[in-house]
Amino acid sequence: MDLSEYRSQFPIFDKKIYLNSCSLGALSLRSRRYVEQFLNEWDESGASAWYSNWTKEIDSVRKLIAGIINADESEIAFGHSISSILSIVASCFQFDERKKIVVTELDFPTSNYQWISKKPLGVDTRIIRSDDKVNISIDKYRQAIDDTTAIVSTSHVFFTSGNIQDIAGINEIARTKGALCIFDGYQSVGQIPVNVHEMKIDMMVSGGLKWLLGGPGVTFLYVRKDLIDSLKPTSAGWFGTKNQFEFCPDAVDLHDDARRFETGTPALASLLAFKGGLEIVSEIGVDNIRAATLSLINELTEQLNRAGFSIRSPEKPENKAAIVMVRHDNPGKVVKALRENNIIVDYRNEYVRISPYFYNTSEDIETFVSTFKELSKN
Ligand SMILES: Cc1ncc(COP(=O)(O)O)c(C=O)c1O
Repeated sequence: MDLSEYRSQFPIFDKKIYLNSCSLGALSLRSRRYVEQFLNEWDESGASAWYSNWTKEIDSVRKLIAGIINADESEIAFGHSISSILSIVASCFQFDERKKIVVTELDFPTSNYQWISKKPLGVDTRIIRSDDKVNISIDKYRQAIDDTTAIVSTSHVFFTSGNIQDIAGINEIARTKGALCIFDGYQSVGQIPVNVHEMKIDMMVSGGLKWLLGGPGVTFLYVRKDLIDSLKPTSAGWFGTKNQFEFCPDAVDLHDDARRFETGTPALASLLAFKGGLEIVSEIGVDNIRAATLSLINELTEQLNRAGFSIRSPEKPENKAAIVMVRHDNPGKVVKALRENNIIVDYRNEYVRISPYFYNTSEDIETFVSTFKELSKN
């Protein structure tokens, strides 16, 4: 597939070599157009645009998400951030019989905070430690999950190692112990294939910020259809209710489908930006995206190895997502110097983090490596 046509839809490449999609996906012309369309509708029609357009836009974005992860539309709820949607999920549990939550030290902190902050409710959050800071072995999950476990809450792809976890395997272990799983797919959906039905996933959260190219302000929750009815959020809002426009002040009648996890008015500008990103990801296809990024990360790691840098990475190729961590004595300084040379990457602790996507090219990789090598001499 010729991806150069798609690259030209991302104006950032006119001026920069952008290799930081795991922090923030690049802005497409299409997302900009949809946001401008929203602003024009707001300007021209005010609130009546809800009836003429915006309600339909919410449905169309839900459909696009469902298509990418192979879910039903009725299994998708919108949120505003990963933190807020996870806290809605957490509000469904009483923690009376099962008090244990299993997380890992490699998860993004905000996911763990949902559970750690529930200590006053008796929640016991067990943090699995990693031996190599790259991965958590499936055996560690086997040891940690037991019949006191309520939920296993972990990432699909770890944000500081790019390791792809075997979430189907983790979910299977949890199922045999009667526990539920919720996976943070912010670093996976878009860049690697996710098929929630085939993987028999209980719940997953993700959103626009990174690999789905929608920017900040809109996230989503997938909940397996046959689980929805048993989960009743105690943190609620009018978008989660059946009779939203009856303005009933004294009872909460939750939707039967996943919309019950929604709370307040969606951030429409973000939703429209998200629509642009989702369309592009759907058109290219996640399998094609994965093939393109795999070849770029192979080139990147080969060239970095050849230049003598040390890389922290999963061992098996099938566990490698498009996040490459390179050890550096002064990561903050070199990232700043790269930025001054119009090359955008990031750093976490003592590692420089590079995250190529389908819109990057072999030339981007070569220019990054040669400039990085040069700047690292100083
Ligand atoms: C895996 C993961 N989860 C969550 C977040 C952030 O979540 P929130 O939407 O609450 O800011 C990030 C980074 O932005 C992340 O990498």
